[in-house]
Amino acid sequence: MSLTTKEIVDQLVKVLEPSRVKIHTDDLQFYGNDWSNIDKPNPLAIVFPKTIKEVQAIVDLANRLSFPLVPSGGRTGLSGGALAKDRELVVSFDRMNKILEFNKADNLVICQPGVVTRALKDFAESKGLFYPVDFASVGSSQIGGNVATNAGGVNVLRYGMTRDWIKGIKVVTGTGELLDLNRGLKKNATGFDFRHLFIGSEGTLGFIVELTLEFTNPPKDLNVMLMGLNSIENTTQVLAIFKERLDLTAFEFFSDIAMQKVLESKKLRNPFNHSYRFYALVEFENNYDEQLIVASELFEKCIDSEYAAEGVVSQNKRQAREFWEFREGITESIASYTPFKSDVSCRISQTPAFLSGLDKILNRFNPKIEAVLFGHLGDGNVHINLLKPIQMDNEEFREECKMIAERIFDLVKSLGGSISAEHGIGLTKKPYLNYSRDEAEIKYMRGVKRLFDPKNIMNPGKLIDL
Ligand code: MLT
Ligand code: ZN
Repeated sequence: MSLTTKEIVDQLVKVLEPSRVKIHTDDLQFYGNDWSNIDKPNPLAIVFPKTIKEVQAIVDLANRLSFPLVPSGGRTGLSGGALAKDRELVVSFDRMNKILEFNKADNLVICQPGVVTRALKDFAESKGLFYPVDFASVGSSQIGGNVATNAGGVNVLRYGMTRDWIKGIKVVTGTGELLDLNRGLKKNATGFDFRHLFIGSEGTLGFIVELTLEFTNPPKDLNVMLMGLNSIENTTQVLAIFKERLDLTAFEFFSDIAMQKVLESKKLRNPFNHSYRFYALVEFENNYDEQLIVASELFEKCIDSEYAAEGVVSQNKRQAREFWEFREGITESIASYTPFKSDVSCRISQTPAFLSGLDKILNRFNPKIEAVLFGHLGDGNVHINLLKPIQMDNEEFREECKMIAERIFDLVKSLGGSISAEHGIGLTKKPYLNYSRDEAEIKYMRGVKRLFDPKNIMNPGKLIDL
């Protein structure tokens, strides 16, 4: 028999101060949702632990009284991984937001999971160092959530994913035990590295309660070049030319619809005289103008071969930031359309085949549905956002989108790619996991889940079903 909210709250206030247990409707709606906005949040309560011991007490209680838990960070997830829609207790890490220790000799920082990604990046900068994972929502997302989804973003081409910067994790598993994994070591060959099981596990195995992350040296004098291109194929040709001679920090692309939505919603000025079907944004370090000279030569090559039609290069930091706004402003500019999102990847060598297949798929479906294409082409990651026409019925739109998504996933599968490059599986991609993972692998994933969370209380219903 399931307990009432009151009965559970009565127990929670024995392990947490009552002010850190919230049941007000506004709190339930706010903390129970994420940016996916796919369903109505309906959590039973929200708790705000301050210590690892309190997290353990909450997990113990959930095991004893059999209620489900959902972790909550900055709630910027786009796959419904932090959505609490089935009377779960939401565990917010907002009060575990401290940077605990920095060690210069190791270049390591130890922090709590609720530290906002931007704060961690600023902290690295204050030490003359760099935390390289970067994406549009760093101002809201929390580092624990980044780790739980193995966040990627715009610098993966040069610096890799969140996983590459995690040198240690403390986790409270679904059984309430505390594990201290890898302890900041660079080299450690002592068997299974459970740290990597928790990175990208989307809160389904346990809660991340402390992190040890590595910083690196900052890039010098970043320059940004923005180019207008006449076809989707040109994006991969321009990438190939730039990669030949420059060690890029980012290579992003976006379609004209994306550009138009950003110009309109952010009231920006178009840096080009014409509209182009696609745009490429290239970022590179420019020590003593050496790379800028190379970039100009590569740009000329792109113009001569008609892969690019026009280009502009940033003259200072402010302008570099302005160019980035055309790319990073896309998600916010189309949010009011509640887009149907896909986030897929394949190997770089397969992106030309992927993009031409994608073009064909999109041309076959309802032309009234606008497809906004953008993403991190430099690492093989494409975001496809389908926008609902105002006059189209919501149900009809979702059905059509599902059909389009399935064709895209067929294509991804045929190229050996991933149906979720960086947003995670959560709820929205769960029915499609088998496009990227085979039955045997999913069986082992279930086994891992049972081992760390035998009572299935940790973010149940997300990623995989038992
Ligand atoms: C991005 O690249 O801007 C993010 O992944 C967000 C999104 O896809 O909407
Ligand atoms: Zn992205």
